[in-house]
Amino acid sequence: MLDSMVWIEKEKKLKVLNQRKLPTEIEYLEKNTVDDVFWTIKNMEVRGAPLIGVVAAYGIVIAAKYAKDANDFLKKVELGVEKLKKSRPTAVNLFWALDRMKKKAMEISKSGMSVSEMLDELEKEAKAIHEEDITSNRKIGENFIENGLVKDGDVILTHCNAGALATSKYGTATSPMYLAKEKGWNIKVFADETRPYLQGARLTTFELFQAGIDVTLICDNMAGWVMKNKMIDKIIVGADRIARNGDVANKIGTMSLAVLANRFGIPFYVAAPTSTIDMNCKDGSEIPIEERNPEEITKWFGIQIAPEGINVFNPAFDVTPNELITAIVTEKGVIKVPERDLDL
Ligand code: MRU
Repeated sequence: MLDSMVWIEKEKKLKVLNQRKLPTEIEYLEKNTVDDVFWTIKNMEVRGAPLIGVVAAYGIVIAAKYAKDANDFLKKVELGVEKLKKSRPTAVNLFWALDRMKKKAMEISKSGMSVSEMLDELEKEAKAIHEEDITSNRKIGENFIENGLVKDGDVILTHCNAGALATSKYGTATSPMYLAKEKGWNIKVFADETRPYLQGARLTTFELFQAGIDVTLICDNMAGWVMKNKMIDKIIVGADRIARNGDVANKIGTMSLAVLANRFGIPFYVAAPTSTIDMNCKDGSEIPIEERNPEEITKWFGIQIAPEGINVFNPAFDVTPNELITAIVTEKGVIKVPERDLDL
């Protein structure tokens, strides 16, 4: 399984796997300034809610390494936090990780440590966020299996990439798939291609296929037909932000899947770490939805496929209302009735 999407090197330079080049090329990029980290998130060289949080946390170490003295240290961190918060608006893990890094920086800036000691402490915090994500993801998979939500022989439909590539390891939606594979179970996965950015076609199929998991690619508009023909047992998706009432923002197309699942009586599960739950959002209407460049729709790998100048609406996420969700599975357990406020 892929597990080296991002790491920090001795001179506090960040290395990231360029997901824009997958699946045809494995390319690692070096990021050495907070601006570099901003663009790698914004341009989706790295993407997926938990991974964005991890990369942003390392981005703060990079921001702080240019501090001239202890006074400048906190200033550099705060500027870095403000800059990175503007990179992408929907995945709350970004804001969660940045707030945690800022809190750590504030604590250590009062401790009388040297800049280099403070930098090491910040790096430890970013690494802790990275490690905790691995543990949480594995636990999410275990919670699916221990609660009988994924069983030997299951056929699972997933959307976008909530896989190892979107996290630090295991993924969220894919975690029970990897654990089922570890157990020698026979499971099958259908992956939606996920227009327009094709995270399903380029990334989910790539990582599951590499891991030896039986995966079949379909276009997004085939999902309903697959459900109607009883070809899948359940749907598992990830999340970018979960509101207090259990409404879930995830990749555009997720809500349509949930409506279809409801129509055909198929369980619809959301897999996410608790860092994806935003207790400050009362419901889905308060979740900011990113709109991306129209060219993601009007062009196909640089080739114009729609009339020049055509109006385009390109929301990157949608919100699935809680009543369409069978359960939300986190590292802490299974929340089966998301109609009530989540209780963390
Ligand atoms: O635009 P992306 O590729 O960052 O969107 C990713 C998703 O929507 C994922 O499903 C979500 O972040 C969960 S990743 C574990």
